[in-house]
Amino acid sequence: MKKVLFVCLGNICRSPMAEMVFKDLVRKKGLEEKFFIDSAATSSEEIGNGIHYGTVQKLRKEGVPFTDHRSRQITKHDYKEFDYIIGMEERNIINILRIIGDDKEQKVCRLLDFTDNPRDIADPWYTGNFDKTYDDVLEGCKALLNKIC
Ligand code: 4NP
Repeated sequence: MKKVLFVCLGNICRSPMAEMVFKDLVRKKGLEEKFFIDSAATSSEEIGNGIHYGTVQKLRKEGVPFTDHRSRQITKHDYKEFDYIIGMEERNIINILRIIGDDKEQKVCRLLDFTDNPRDIADPWYTGNFDKTYDDVLEGCKALLNKIC
């Protein structure tokens, strides 16, 4: 069983999108039994809040199934629990390390670090562009699955 935790600032836009897209790819490959997939926030701002409407709308448009998800903040315990802790951008990595301490087992990285073009996932918060975020997330999730399955 591989355990994957996607992380962004608020856990309402990018990381739940990555969670649902990765779950869909895993499901389509018949690998559901082999993975546990979740997402979390670095900040406490959105705790308890559901997935942002922009992400919901885009997942619907792309035919990606999703379930209710409530924002939660990453904890030190998550570091023990998960094998891969995957931030959406560099700032997430800094904040993840602040919460969990040292990344002794090298579990923490950015989603697009699994691709040939390492970079931050486009942040839709100020732009409202969930299409670009989705393209980045899909590229990263495909590369991640190739790498770890
Ligand atoms: P997310 O998006 O980190 O992708 O869930 C954001 C959510 C909340 C805020 C910024 C980005 N915020 O500033 O409250």
